[in-house]
Amino acid sequence: MASAELPSSSSPALQFQVLAQQGRARTATMKLPHYTAETPMFMPVGTQGTVKGLTSEQMQELDCHVILGNTYHLGNRPGPELVAAMGGLHSFINWPRGMLTDSGGFQMVSLLHLADITEEGVTFQSPVDGSRMLLTPEESIGIQNDLGADIMMQLDDVVPATNTDLARFEEATHRTTRWLDRCIAANKRPHEQNLFPIVQGGFDVSLRQLSMQQLIARNAPGYAIGGLAGGETKDMFWRVVAQCAAGLPPGKPRYVMGIGYPLDILVCSALGADMYDSVYPTRTARFGVALVDTGVMKLKNAAFAKDMRPIDESCSCMTCRQYTRSYLHHVVTRGISSASILVTYHNVAYMQGLTRRIRQAIKEQRLPDFTRAFLTGMFPAGN
Ligand code: GUN
Ligand code: ZN
Repeated sequence: MASAELPSSSSPALQFQVLAQQGRARTATMKLPHYTAETPMFMPVGTQGTVKGLTSEQMQELDCHVILGNTYHLGNRPGPELVAAMGGLHSFINWPRGMLTDSGGFQMVSLLHLADITEEGVTFQSPVDGSRMLLTPEESIGIQNDLGADIMMQLDDVVPATNTDLARFEEATHRTTRWLDRCIAANKRPHEQNLFPIVQGGFDVSLRQLSMQQLIARNAPGYAIGGLAGGETKDMFWRVVAQCAAGLPPGKPRYVMGIGYPLDILVCSALGADMYDSVYPTRTARFGVALVDTGVMKLKNAAFAKDMRPIDESCSCMTCRQYTRSYLHHVVTRGISSASILVTYHNVAYMQGLTRRIRQAIKEQRLPDFTRAFLTGMFPAGN
């Protein structure tokens, strides 16, 4: 397709240009204030401002374009005032590339189970001193303005995926739109920091449609699909991603929140999604689990004790070039801290390599072949 016909959008702090598409899948460049990222893209999570086990230099060496930070964690400690005084999060943590911060409410609801949601905001018990705290849409954006991320997420009303009360999903959908308007009004730097709305609506097709309609009317630079990765079935998950990717504007980035299994990233990309984040690749690494095309490699397994091969013979990352499965088995089973670093390094390299392969396959119009080969590698017996 000629580039003139390919979707694009231009906002003050985000230019999105689709470079190629195949079916619903697309590959694009996304120009942000600190970096021009390429999509489909995986964003490693640096909850406390840093990706556990890796330095900023290593993250750059691994070709990470955007990392994710959390308002909830960074807003507690070190606190937005300190980060702002240090020149913002980019400067504080020495990360020159793209940064996205989540709004905080989801982390409270999902991690703490202590949160209480009212029209005003999310009330929760401080993990620092146990006191009651209220996070409003205005405060979330205030903190994210102080942190200075390229992309900020709206505060949204997230209902657990396992909820069965449609009325609660309905309330959350409308409240999320009302909170979006409060977030937009509170954003002090709309020309430097992008604010992404989050589509909610649970697993109800008409609620998701309604949510999209309301959010699209606000003409944001990009959109996220939320309320997923919370214990729903794969079938429920794909349906929502397929519906939302088809319903969101073609020229703007679509971010599926909380997604990090390699297969999910491939399928979501085939359905037209562009951005993903998850703690999965880095967290699982700390348990000695390495990601490979055939699935996962549990390095604690005694079968690796004398295995002189690298984790993945086709991987050119530092860990695979220099360390054997045997050595990694040794450090992983003994809980030596370098084990986490080496496996994390490989897993981040794997995710960046996977999204690079997806982008290349779309550019070369061979995503279906790539997907078939990937599935065959992961499920050789066809099951
Ligand atoms: N992370 C994963 N899912 C969500 C969601 O629905 N909302 C927010 N804010 N963060 C998320
Ligand atoms: Zn590797």
